[in-house]
Formats: sequence, structure tokens, C-alpha cells
Amino acid sequence: MRKYGASPGTFVERQQPESNLHGPVPATGRKGVIRMKESITMTLAMAARLSGLLALGSGVVGWAGYAVPLYIHIALGSLLIVAVWSLAFQARSVAAGLARFAGAVGAFIPVVGLLQLRFQLGEFQWVPQGLHLAAGLGGIAFAEILAKRIRLSMQTL
Ligand code: HEM
Repeated sequence: MRKYGASPGTFVERQQPESNLHGPVPATGRKGVIRMKESITMTLAMAARLSGLLALGSGVVGWAGYAVPLYIHIALGSLLIVAVWSLAFQARSVAAGLARFAGAVGAFIPVVGLLQLRFQLGEFQWVPQGLHLAAGLGGIAFAEILAKRIRLSMQTL
């Protein structure tokens, strides 16, 4: 915040206090917007990490022959994709190419996953399975990379 200084025409920067008797003072203006964006990024990154690892776990457990409902796996995978796409959207202006590529990897995950159900390739079934697993791991990795790029860009503001 600015207020008039002692001599006419001069301004003195007044620092906003970090906290008062009621706890931390919420940041306002540009600083507040950056803080809000930062917390959205962190929430999305956490959601991607958690849903991605649980999707991986449920996929591996199902593949090992245990009865895991497919809809749970798909719901967890969908959550990862929504988080990756949201992070890619947030990163579109700071890392456009990376954001586009991450978005495409996100779309690739369910496509290969669902194609596996439709087409049985016999002894070559490991090909779509491997592609699906690689894309899923790629989605988790891209969420981390995008979140880091977004946070870095905010630190330089
Ligand atoms: C919306 C997203 C997703 C969809 C629609 C999906 C779909 C599927 C389907 C239908 C299967 C069973 C294939 C079969 O029984 O033959 C499967 C298996 C599997 N999924 Fe996913 N999945 C998704 C996300 C993920 C993610 C994010 C990961 C890993 C991080 C993952 C890892 C696996 C693994 C390891 C298997 C078992 C091996 C295989 O069949 O590939 N999936 N998935």
C-alpha cells in the first residue's frame, strides 16, 4: 500500500503486516492472486500424485488376477487425467509445448486402456498393456514437471 511522504509528490511504501492478533493477514492484490494460483497448483499436483499412484496400484493388482472393480481403476485414472489437463492449462503460457504434449499423453492413457478391452491381440497383448502403463506413468511424471514449471514461473514474477 502507498501513502504520501513528508514532502509533496513523494510516496512511501507501507509494508502490509504478515500477521496481526487474529492470525496471518490474507494477501491482497497481485500477491494474493499468485498465492491462490500456487495453492491451486499444489492441490492439483497432490491430486495427480494420489490418484495416479492408486490407479497404478489398482491396475497392477487387477492385472495380477485379483478382483478389482474396473470402474474404480477408471475413476482414479480419470482423476489423474483431469489433474494433468488442469495443470497443462495453467502452464499453457509458460511452457506451451510441454503443456500440449502432456495434454496429449493424458488423452492417450484412456484410449489405449479401453482399446485393450475391445481388441484382444493374443500373444501381442503386452504391447497395448505396456503402452497403457507407460502412458499412465508418463501422466504422473508430467503432472510433477508441469507443477514445477508453474511454481518456478510464479517465483520469477
Ligand atoms: C481414464 C484412465 C484409464 C482408463 C480408462 C484405464 C483403463 C484400463 C483398462 C480397461 C484396463 C484393463 C485391461 C484389461 O483388463 O485387459 C486397465 C489396466 C491397467 N491400467 Fe489402466 N486405465 C486408466 C488409467 C491408468 C493409469 C493412470 C495407470 C497407471 C498410472 C494405469 C495402469 C494400468 C495397469 C498397470 C493395468 C494392468 C495392465 C494392463 O492391462 O495394462 N491405468 N486400465
